[in-house]
Amino acid sequence: MKKDLISIYDLAREEIEALLQKAAELKEMQRQHRPYRPLEGHTLAMVFEKPSTRTRVSFEVGMYHLGGHALFLNPQDTHLARGEAIADTARVLSRYADGIMIRTFDQERVEDMARFASIPVINGLSDQLHPCQILSDIFTIGEHRGGCDGLKVAYVGDGNNVANSWINGALRLGFDLRLACPPGYEPDKKILSRAQREGSSQIILTHDQKEAVEGAHVINTDVWASMGQEGERAERIKAFQGYQVNAELIQGARADVIVMHCLPAHRGEEITDEVMDGPHSVVFDQAENRLHVQKAILALLMGTGERNEQGR
Ligand code: CP
Ligand code: NVA
Repeated sequence: MKKDLISIYDLAREEIEALLQKAAELKEMQRQHRPYRPLEGHTLAMVFEKPSTRTRVSFEVGMYHLGGHALFLNPQDTHLARGEAIADTARVLSRYADGIMIRTFDQERVEDMARFASIPVINGLSDQLHPCQILSDIFTIGEHRGGCDGLKVAYVGDGNNVANSWINGALRLGFDLRLACPPGYEPDKKILSRAQREGSSQIILTHDQKEAVEGAHVINTDVWASMGQEGERAERIKAFQGYQVNAELIQGARADVIVMHCLPAHRGEEITDEVMDGPHSVVFDQAENRLHVQKAILALLMGTGERNEQGR
């Protein structure tokens, strides 16, 4: 049966560990310039209904490294913008390609793509979730801290797709997570309460950013207004005053805290230049690791030796 990557919630701890292990192997192979081409002759269709730098480039370069090919599908140039159903698009893409990556608005569009495609579907970000990012960030934490066990991870800012995927990550890997979000901008209630109910770790929501970062090993943040929320920017700027990762805030964390941001950043809003360019920041390691983790995802989902049902 085909395997999709829609949410970290759908993955078992062992699957995440296998993925991270694979990413480490692929990173080392790349460092040694050793070729690894399990996806020769395979094609990934990438549907982007929102902009992207990191996700697009890392999937495209990743497919090339693995011996395959990636197609960038801009909805303006396909029939998606003219209303062709996602189900029909999924069925058609399944006749040509071996995998689909989709970045879109509603989570339901990702789920529909997966339901109607006969090939693996990867969530490259929705309004609700950003699983590839957080899997990659967990890999980066592993490089800097040797793993996530026993860690206190803080998240400061908008309770958005990134925050929701951090909650799923904490549930599956068992690290403590403290989120500080302004009133009215909390993470998805269902995702949070499910993780608090099913998980063994502490997952706490507060409005106080100092409380969230106290003694933290890792501090995360993200933009105040995500893609698609540009019209709310003025009101969000007001609501998010006092939610900023700056030098004073990180004083309350561990002395060796690492600061993370999935990027793109709005410097001077959710994070200061001083912190982003300072010694605690690992943001560009995070960006690089998108490539290695993406390659692991592609190899594990698409490199099973099974081709799509048309046998190409
Ligand atoms: N972090 C991330 O997903 O970046 P892009 O929007 O550039 O893909
Ligand atoms: N929360 C941000 C993440 C960008 C990678 C957004 O959705 O725009």
